Amino acid sequence: MSGTQILEVGEVARVTGPARIEVDEGRILLVGSEFSRGSALVVHELRSYSLKALERTRLRVFLGAGGVFEKASLSEEVIDDWINVAEIIMKDVEGGERLRVVIMGPPESGKTTLSAFIVNYLRDRGVKSCLVEGDVGQEDLAMPATVAMTIVERPFIWQRELSFQEFRFVGCISPRNCELGVISALMDLTSSALSRGCRAVVVNTDGWVSGDGVNYKIELIKWVRPTHIVSLNPKLSSLMTLAFRGLVKVLNAKSPVTVRTRSREERQRLRSEAYRRYFINSSVRTVRASEVGLIRVQPFNCEQASMNELLSTHPELISVASSVLRACYNEKELVLLTEGSLNAGLLEALRNEVYAKHSVKLVILRREDLTGCLMGIIGEGFRDVGVGMVEDFKLGEAGDVLIKLRTPYGGPIIALVGSNIRLDEEYREIRRGEWFVGFKRDRS
Ligand SMILES: Nc1ncnc2c1ncn2[C@@H]1O[C@H](COP(=O)(O)OP(=O)(O)O)[C@@H](O)[C@H]1O
Ligand SMILES: [Mg+2]
Repeated sequence: MSGTQILEVGEVARVTGPARIEVDEGRILLVGSEFSRGSALVVHELRSYSLKALERTRLRVFLGAGGVFEKASLSEEVIDDWINVAEIIMKDVEGGERLRVVIMGPPESGKTTLSAFIVNYLRDRGVKSCLVEGDVGQEDLAMPATVAMTIVERPFIWQRELSFQEFRFVGCISPRNCELGVISALMDLTSSALSRGCRAVVVNTDGWVSGDGVNYKIELIKWVRPTHIVSLNPKLSSLMTLAFRGLVKVLNAKSPVTVRTRSREERQRLRSEAYRRYFINSSVRTVRASEVGLIRVQPFNCEQASMNELLSTHPELISVASSVLRACYNEKELVLLTEGSLNAGLLEALRNEVYAKHSVKLVILRREDLTGCLMGIIGEGFRDVGVGMVEDFKLGEAGDVLIKLRTPYGGPIIALVGSNIRLDEEYREIRRGEWFVGFKRDRS
């Protein structure tokens, strides 16, 4: 219910967005930070939190459609457990060591909130703290498909309120088949955070912790080399203890019981909001393929074949030749970039024929398959400087390609990095089949 709410000292309440809370009197703990008289907090419609009164508190609560504010019993709330975890970490910071704390747990177990909780708690106590957001599917600092890092300089509830200092473009929205990119980016950003003088670096991770996800997480820990793991799942805590006994302090944290869970569609919507936010002040630039490095950017980074060459080696392709804009070979594939409509049955037959005759995979890309593709932008010194989205491309002279790239980044572009993500005009992800070699389809 909207209106005034009184909480006695020690009382806990749960709030589900959309909601706005103003502290009229008193003091509360919310996501690890203290808020007193005059503070105003906004809870997104897809998020819920618990808050605890540190003294008698009067709140003014404004709820949007679907928003809820309710008192909760301390026994069902995790806030005290999380305070304990944060206190242990605070003591270890005081011990003088520079900490690297990896948060892990299943999807919707509270990883993002606990990461924010710990980093807020430490910052509130004067510890220079950094946050590395390592969940490529729900990356809240920069945008999905990246891993980002920030020095935390003010209290926050949700990572989306912060901006990032640095990011690495990974190019996937699920860690599956992308483990190497995620782990490398996490290592890189963690050491960058330490070199910027952070005494504690909190690293959030994705929720892939079952099946092959366990081995991936063990590999991640082996390379990131944290001082602490905070796990939101007891079984996972045991597995991590078995693997890293004597190397890493493993803490178990309770997972909130009553959470605002998000459907697959809602998770996609959250990603769309993040893409939109990134591209809000973007414009379109033209990049000449011949002047930049092209990392995984099919079909512009493979050896081009002329139409004559193509037809002499693959006469069976004559039926589609008039639609082919560009043909090129790489190790195991023949890639055709096409325009206009082609009959699906005919393509299937051609694929089979080409494979049977030459043992190469025929990959057909239509012009429209390239529009909306996300690309990482590498600047001078091999730095990740921006992300772009292909609006269109034109074939230039001497086989060159002019790529029209939408991006907010205005500096020099040294190389482009491909991804398996494509967006429509509303920044919604478009599912697609084969595109980039080395990538399989995401299921995030
Ligand atoms: N103590 C809590 N009480 C109720 N809901 C919570 C609490 N902590 C987190 N949530 C909500 O639970 C959901 C999942 O939490 P989140 O931190 O995003 O988990 P994960 O990062 O593991 O997916 C979010 O909607 C979040 O707002
Ligand atoms: Mg999360």
